[in-house]
Amino acid sequence: MGQGNWGPEEVNRPRTRIHHGRGLKELTEGAERKVISDITDLPGVGPSTAQKLIEAGYTTVEAIAVATPQELSQVTGIPIVTAQKIIEAAREALNIDFKTAYDLKLESINRRKITTGSRNLDELLGGGIETKTITELFGEFGSGKTQICHQLAVNVQLPEDKGGLEGKAVYIDTEGTFRWERIEQMARGVGLDPDEAMRNIYWIRAINSHHQIAIVDKLFDMVKKENIKLVVVDSVTGHFRAEFPGRENLAMRQQLLNRHLHQLMRLADIFNIAVVITNQVMARPDVFYGDPTQAVGGHVLGHAPGVRVQLKKSRGNKRIARIVDAPHLPEGETVFVITEWGIRDPE
Ligand code: GTP
Ligand code: MG
Repeated sequence: MGQGNWGPEEVNRPRTRIHHGRGLKELTEGAERKVISDITDLPGVGPSTAQKLIEAGYTTVEAIAVATPQELSQVTGIPIVTAQKIIEAAREALNIDFKTAYDLKLESINRRKITTGSRNLDELLGGGIETKTITELFGEFGSGKTQICHQLAVNVQLPEDKGGLEGKAVYIDTEGTFRWERIEQMARGVGLDPDEAMRNIYWIRAINSHHQIAIVDKLFDMVKKENIKLVVVDSVTGHFRAEFPGRENLAMRQQLLNRHLHQLMRLADIFNIAVVITNQVMARPDVFYGDPTQAVGGHVLGHAPGVRVQLKKSRGNKRIARIVDAPHLPEGETVFVITEWGIRDPE
């Protein structure tokens, strides 16, 4: 069954490409900066150095950025000065450098927002789902995570004065819960041509965690070409939990998941797009006792930058949303409803 045969061995193998035919050399918006997403894109890292780095566990640009020249020199046998240059290039690629307060102001001005369809929810989010950020929707089954993702995939297409970004969406579906029929309904609900709205959403089923990561790698090429403004991963955790069950696999699972989140963060940041991920958490604490990623109220973003939205079921079609650990957003909860036409405010 082809790709379905990937076992844990394959999943654990460092995935950094040595031969990078695609070479992710997209230009960023505005600034003409080369996008480095692979350690072999770093100046000074040829195939044999790359091989040594990978064998020593330096499989990502992030890992190299936080290494010391001594360490790298020791494992690869390259001179310390060369190692220093590689590390500097990795830091530059990741934008790990001083910024002025004014840079920060410009970045915040460039941020855009997508309406959720509910004014209440938008207000809670400080105006909507933000670009350059990962937004995590977490909550129990049926709490509305997938419905919000569908709605955003439609709303991102709206003109800016209607709360959209006039862009397309990518929907990475890991559970097979995407429904084009729902997109059709929601498009009608906001006055978009349903066929056109469906054409503007690229759906892909991720068959395992390895595939899920590979898809995001590809997006670095695709986002700008296709005017993608929103990437949804629904759910971000499902495959990782299934493939790495229990406490004994927790460290490996977290490591892979963190890498995936970093990929997504860079995608959001570099292309100024919104990334929305979902994460099912159970309502019964006893079942998941001892597992911090599945604890009640647990979210995968941890201390990574991003916005965490907890969703809860309420009566009928009502749902409650709450923002978790976001000092810059208003405290408290809000209520929205899931209607035939999509996400709305309660009557
Ligand atoms: P899991 O993926 O199981 O963790 O749940 P989730 O949080 O993704 O829940 P989801 O967004 O799928 O919400 C499911 C709820 O949305 C259902 O219980 C319905 O109340 C509502 N819903 C789903 N489809 C429709 C629809 O076509 N019409 C209406 N009116 N409501 C719908
Ligand atoms: Mg769902």
